Amino acid sequence: MGSLSGKRILLGVTGGMAAYKAVELLRLMTKAGADVVVAMTHAATKFVQPLTFRELSYHPVAIDVFDEPKEGLMQHLFLADSCDGIVIAPATANTMAKIACGIADNALCTIVLASTAPVILAPAMDSDMWANPVTQENVARLRARGFHFAGPGRGPLARQGKEGWGRMLDPEDIFKITVDVLTRSKDWEGLRLLVTAGPTYEAIDPVRFVGNRSSGKMGYAIAAAAQRRGAEVTLVSGPSSQPVPPGVELVRVQTTLEMREACLAVFDKVDACVKAAAPADFRVEEPAQEKIKKEGQSELVLRLVRNPDILAELGAMKKNQVVVGFAAETENLIAQASEKLRRKNCDLMVANDVTAPDAGFEVDTNRVTLVYADGRTEDVPTMQKERLANLLLDRIGELVRKKKA
Ligand code: PMT
Repeated sequence: MGSLSGKRILLGVTGGMAAYKAVELLRLMTKAGADVVVAMTHAATKFVQPLTFRELSYHPVAIDVFDEPKEGLMQHLFLADSCDGIVIAPATANTMAKIACGIADNALCTIVLASTAPVILAPAMDSDMWANPVTQENVARLRARGFHFAGPGRGPLARQGKEGWGRMLDPEDIFKITVDVLTRSKDWEGLRLLVTAGPTYEAIDPVRFVGNRSSGKMGYAIAAAAQRRGAEVTLVSGPSSQPVPPGVELVRVQTTLEMREACLAVFDKVDACVKAAAPADFRVEEPAQEKIKKEGQSELVLRLVRNPDILAELGAMKKNQVVVGFAAETENLIAQASEKLRRKNCDLMVANDVTAPDAGFEVDTNRVTLVYADGRTEDVPTMQKERLANLLLDRIGELVRKKKA
C-alpha cells in the first residue's frame, strides 16, 4: 500500500516555468497510490501540453468551467466534492491572488472555491513578485484561512542570473508535505497545548523598545498544526504580524513579565508546553515616561535588569506536563542545548543554529537538532517551519502518551 493509497488528489498546474516539474510530482503521487486528476490554467497549457498530464493520470484534464458534466454535476463541482486534497504546483502569484479574493474564472479556481478539502500551495515566481506586499498580504490571508504552503524555496530563478526566494520546491519535497497534510490524523484530540511565539518588547520610553528579530513564524506554525490535529491550543504571542491560526486561543503580550503571567495562568491545565518564543532576557530598569530627547545628549546609558526565565520556572513546577524549549545558539549547539535542557528541567530541547541562513529567526525554514532528556539526539534536516511543526508534534505527542501511560 502506498502512502497515498485510496486518496483522490486534484493537482492544479498554473502558468509558470516550473510547470514541467508538476509532471514529476504527478508521477510521485500516482506511484504512492493516489488517484490524481489534473486541472490546468490556460497559461499552464502554454508551458506543458495537457496531453502529458492526461496520459500519466488516466483522466481528462480540467481546464474550462464549461467542460462536459460528470455524474450529473458540473465537472468542477464533481472534482471539488470528490477530492481528498488539492495541490497547486506551481502556484503563481496571479492564481494565489485570485484564490485569496474568491475569484472563480477558470476550472482550477472554481474547484478551490467550491471545495472543503485541504489545499497545499507550492508558490513559484520571481523573488520581487514574492516579496511584493500584495503577494505577501495574499499569502497571509490564505494562511489565516488554513491553506498550507509548500515553499517557496531560495535558489536560481527563471530571470537570468537571478537568485532569491520564489523558487518552487523540488517535487519530492512537495510530495512529502502532501503526504504529511493528507495522512495526518486528529492524534492531538483531547490534549491541551500551550505555545509561545515571537519576541517580547521591553520599553525604553513610550516609542522605543529593546527587542529581537523573532517573527513568530515557528511558534505560529506549531500552534496552527496542533489545532489542525485536534489539540486545544493557547498561543501566547509577543508582537508579531503572523496571521492568527483559526481555532487557536490567542493571548497577545508585549513584555517578558506579561508572557510569564499568561503562561502561568494556563500551565497547570495543559498536557504540554512548547516555548518557541524569544523573550527578552533583560528589561529597562526604569523606562522613561516621556520620549527621550536626543538634543544635548552625546550618549544614552540604559540600565537593564534580568527578566525571569519563564521556561526554567515552568520546568521547575511541572507535574505531568511535557515541557519543550527552543535553544537559539550561535556556537556549540548540542552542548549549549543540553546544558539548557538540564538547567530548565525540560523533556526536549529544540536546538537551532541561528547563524545558518536557512534556520532560526525570520526565515520560513528551520534546521534543528532535537536533544532529549535521556541524552538522545536527533538531527532534523532543513525543512519548512510548517513541516517541522508537525514533526515536533509527532515527537512531543509520543512523550505525552508515555507520561500518561
Ligand atoms: O520566530 P521566528 O522568526 O520563526 O524564529 C524562531 C526562533 C529562532 C525564535 C525559535 O526557533 C527559537 O529558537 N526560539 C527560542 C529563542 C530563545 O529565546 O532562545 P534562548 O536560547 O535564549 O532560550 C531558551 C529557551 O528559554 C527558549 O525556549 C525561550 O523561549 C525560553 N526563555 C528564554 C528567556 C526567558 N526569559 N524566558 C524563557 O522562557
